[in-house]
Amino acid sequence: MENKTVYLNGHYIPLNEAKVSVLDRGFLFGDGVYEVIPSYSGHLFHVQDHLQRLENSLTGIRLTNPHSREQWLTILTPLLDSQFDQYIYLQVTRGVATKRDHAFPENIAATVFAMCSNIVAFAGLNDGIKAISVDDSRWQFCNIKAITLLGNILHRQEAIENGCAEALLVKDGYVVEGAASNVFAVIDGILTTPAKSNSILPGITRDVILDLARKNNIPYKEDNISFTAIQAASEIWVTSSTREIIPVVELDSKLVGHGKPGPVWQTINHLFQTYKKSLL
Ligand code: PDD
Repeated sequence: MENKTVYLNGHYIPLNEAKVSVLDRGFLFGDGVYEVIPSYSGHLFHVQDHLQRLENSLTGIRLTNPHSREQWLTILTPLLDSQFDQYIYLQVTRGVATKRDHAFPENIAATVFAMCSNIVAFAGLNDGIKAISVDDSRWQFCNIKAITLLGNILHRQEAIENGCAEALLVKDGYVVEGAASNVFAVIDGILTTPAKSNSILPGITRDVILDLARKNNIPYKEDNISFTAIQAASEIWVTSSTREIIPVVELDSKLVGHGKPGPVWQTINHLFQTYKKSLL
């Protein structure tokens, strides 16, 4: 195991020395939230948006943010290495209680953990990936970036076992997002992504893409995508901080469009890569 330095509750320590109690609420209940923040050449990407989403997630589980924005930046910055493209994983749990009890314990400190990993270019970026559709089995607060990810991992695993890289989650006849990504589709020439709701995580990559579409006069809308509509889409993409914008070239063993990354993806991906560089 790579023995990098990680942050745990106020200390920078080697990964193999980072330990939390078995009574931690994160371990016992999945009682916590997380963030994944990309960093290009040592510059955290849209960090204020990620910290705002962290704040929203903490509010969603009624946990006080243990740190101010400035403190978060002070904590995260020493973990970065400007030679690499990386991502920070940070997690806040409700802390270590004296006994296992579902109700919130009183007067305990949150557990704060952060580590940094190199981004390994995702193999599907230029060729596209295969996806399957599955019934969304998750809970009703998907807008909270909760560490409780059993639904997501079971869906992703089902995709992998079917030779696919992602699962598109279908709720009441509508495609909401991927197991660990947001979804976009080009339908009748219009770039479409579901509007924000408690059925999806409000992705930071998603927001950046919509902003780029707006500024570059690419027709787009935030609207429901029915399963029937996505089956007829000329392009489908999944987006996330670690994989960026990945074309889906096959859905449920059927080609999407011509089975290759499409022209709208080419345009937006180019704009996205240029935008990333412009921030350095
Ligand atoms: N996941 N929806 C879900 C369910 C996700 O897990 C993610 C990202 C996204 C995309 O959000 P963003 O663009 O802000 O990364 C949407 C991260 C990368 C993860 O869990 O590792």
